[in-house]
Amino acid sequence: MDLKLKNKKALITGASRGLGYAVARCLLSEGASVTINSREAVNLEEARNSLSHQGKVGAIAGDVTIPTSCIALLEEAVERMGGLDLLVTNSGGPKTGRFETMSDDDWLQAFQLNFLSHVRLIRAALPYLRQSDAPSILTVTSISAKQPIPDMVLSNSLRAGVLGLTKTLSQELGSEGIRVNSILPGFTLTDRAMSLLRDRAQKNNTSMDIEIHKQSEASALKRIAAPEEFARVAVFLLSPAASYLTGLMLPVDGGAYTGLI
Ligand SMILES: NC(=O)c1ccc[n+]([C@@H]2O[C@H](COP(=O)([O-])OP(=O)(O)OC[C@H]3O[C@@H](n4cnc5c(N)ncnc54)[C@H](OP(=O)(O)O)[C@@H]3O)[C@@H](O)[C@H]2O)c1
Repeated sequence: MDLKLKNKKALITGASRGLGYAVARCLLSEGASVTINSREAVNLEEARNSLSHQGKVGAIAGDVTIPTSCIALLEEAVERMGGLDLLVTNSGGPKTGRFETMSDDDWLQAFQLNFLSHVRLIRAALPYLRQSDAPSILTVTSISAKQPIPDMVLSNSLRAGVLGLTKTLSQELGSEGIRVNSILPGFTLTDRAMSLLRDRAQKNNTSMDIEIHKQSEASALKRIAAPEEFARVAVFLLSPAASYLTGLMLPVDGGAYTGLI
């Protein structure tokens, strides 16, 4: 199947590693032109170099928790690529812990990182997406929005808000042909996931192997996902091949979520 992504222009935030990086690699392999972003310029440049043999890839450093950075990032990406068709709003995960360990500052930081970043990036992208013939937005959230994860009160709370935003935008922007979807990743082997498993091993006085086994058992497929398995679904949803899909909130979790809807 032709995903019709050749020469489409994509901006992916939080993409020097992990899920965002995997999406960038997969989009490049489909012939899209890609701009990746993250905060640390050195890591970002390394990531850009490692992708550069696959196609046209640019890199812009910036922190998506800073309002002016979101605007500058969009403007620079559009100038470099000559437009924008696809936007993936992604960043790092919030602090972990239970409700009573969180201060107002913790909540506010997580709100900036995992909620307002989506709002600001999408707002800044809309004038450019409106000029595209196949505009598509993908918000990266978490399975925690459907099935709260122990010790992750910030993620459990804020991701649900992003699903509300995603669904609302799909309704508000649908008549303009702008599709807005979200993927809710389950446990996927990235740096973030490794660090969560390390924390659990320390807290439970176990080993990484035991924590990996426990996490694998939590999904129907009895294993943890590879970032590419997330990326292939993301790229399909972003692509014109998914032209009648909008407002979708899709778990990519190996069947970890056991509810019906
Ligand atoms: N992996 C999983 O199992 C899983 C499951 C559910 C949900 N998620 C969520 O999916 C998202 C991506 O996960 P991941 O596993 O790929 O995380 P990751 O391995 O920690 O990668 C996060 C990426 O975002 C960048 N980033 C972090 N803060 C940023 C900021 N303020 N501005 C711009 N870039 C920023 C990081 O680079 P810099 O540090 O250089 O900025 C890095 O490139 C996270 O929100 C995570 O919580 C992940």
